[in-house]
Amino acid sequence: MELYKQVFENNKRWVESKIAHDADFFEKLAKDQRPDFLYIGCADSRVPANEIMGLEPGEVFVHRNIANLVVNTDLNVQSVIHYAVVHLQVKHIVVCGHYGCGGVKAAMQPKDLGLLNPWLRNIRDVYRLHQNELDGISKLDDRYDRLVELNVQEQCINVVKVASIQQRYYAERLPTVHGWVYDLHNGLLKDLNLDMEQEVAKIAKIYDLHDV
Ligand code: CO
Repeated sequence: MELYKQVFENNKRWVESKIAHDADFFEKLAKDQRPDFLYIGCADSRVPANEIMGLEPGEVFVHRNIANLVVNTDLNVQSVIHYAVVHLQVKHIVVCGHYGCGGVKAAMQPKDLGLLNPWLRNIRDVYRLHQNELDGISKLDDRYDRLVELNVQEQCINVVKVASIQQRYYAERLPTVHGWVYDLHNGLLKDLNLDMEQEVAKIAKIYDLHDV
């Protein structure tokens, strides 16, 4: 069967399997959503958010773009963060990158990539912030892996620059922000164990917006 048509067959089978397990599955879901997680990940087709986290529909609010960027002027990601934090009251915000990220690789080459230039510029800026460390890594593949990790770290820092995040964090010590990297070769998630309290302390003088 043509893959396009197969999708609708798959969908019917998925509905049947959910109802077989819980007859009210969809009715319960339709009422409300209360996800604990906001997941910000790469649009890469090989990194499906719910699946790698083993979470069901309703359990994770998802935003994906090329190279999991949190850009200050991107109304899309900023709206997602605001809605997740203020209205859904998520407990955790995860920025999940992945080794082998095409967006990160493209940004490592000094080359005109047309419409992608302004987007990839954000990753080039991450490189510039960490140029000493990155240029000190002689093996190109290792440097690439490290830039993937540092990009996740910088996007987590971009998350804590958002006013609504700071205001809720000072009031409730939530949400907590986590940086993860997914490995395409073995399917495993790695927690970078970022110390976000320390990162916030480092930038507070310049970026604090929580209005005491
Ligand atoms: Co990617």
